Amino acid sequence: MAVYEITFSPTGGTDKVTDILMEGYQEEKKEISLLSAQEDYGKYEFQKEDICFIAMPSYGGRIPQIAAERLTQMKGNGARAVLVCVYGNRAYEDTLTELKDKAEEAGFAVYGAVSAVAEHSIMRKFAAGRPDTKDMAELQKFGKKLREKLEQETDSGEVQVPGNHPYKKLGTIPFIPKPGRGCNSCGYCARFCPVGAIDPKDVKKVDEKKCIACMRCISVCPKNVRKLNKVVLLAAETKMAKLFEERKENELFL
Ligand SMILES: Cc1cc2nc3c(=O)[nH]c(=O)nc-3n(C[C@H](O)[C@H](O)[C@H](O)COP(=O)(O)O)c2cc1C
Repeated sequence: MAVYEITFSPTGGTDKVTDILMEGYQEEKKEISLLSAQEDYGKYEFQKEDICFIAMPSYGGRIPQIAAERLTQMKGNGARAVLVCVYGNRAYEDTLTELKDKAEEAGFAVYGAVSAVAEHSIMRKFAAGRPDTKDMAELQKFGKKLREKLEQETDSGEVQVPGNHPYKKLGTIPFIPKPGRGCNSCGYCARFCPVGAIDPKDVKKVDEKKCIACMRCISVCPKNVRKLNKVVLLAAETKMAKLFEERKENELFL
């Protein structure tokens, strides 16, 4: 039996949450990132006894479509899966339902699911500092319960998660980061972009059709000079503030 942490985490929030949930598997887990634009994900084949935590952020109440494509190239072969949806304290709508559909399509057996809050990767003032100490205690508890189920039960049962069919319509996110003053064209942003949207020869050039606004280029910039347009960002924060007021809690589905 092997234990895997399979994540799509452009700015690290999804990884943070999943690491806490998987503390009990710290020693043995193997990590697979779904962020690579070069990797052939079809090479991953799992076995029935394996345990796979599959984690993705919510983008507009859906899973990132590129992450869905990469996940469904894998062969689950009945491996036991725990699904994790991480969102920025607005809402996650159909994210878990879509993730469950895709995991099952790839051949995983879903034993449990978690929704959890992490700092909003575009509007960072929302859910700032989460997961915090309260979240950590809660997620550790969820992790123990999930481990009990995985160890004691031989059948996944029918895990119910919130969400609807048809899924919420996919939206476009008008936030494309650009390099500011001080950019020395080191090319990190292009190298680590999960969809190959940035021209490595001229990092100012972004293929707007490919960009998924995941903010990975901002988070890997060693000079901290890749940024969003401040005016556009402030306008969005002001317009959406009400939706973020109330603290959303983490949930466990078994
Ligand atoms: C393109 C995009 C769309 C997002 N849509 C939502 C959303 O619909 N609801 C929400 O609460 N958070 C939303 N977020 C926030 C992320 O789900 C959240 O910050 C998550 O922790 C990001 O994961 P990462 O840190 O692993 O990249 C969105 C973020 C991005 C980049």
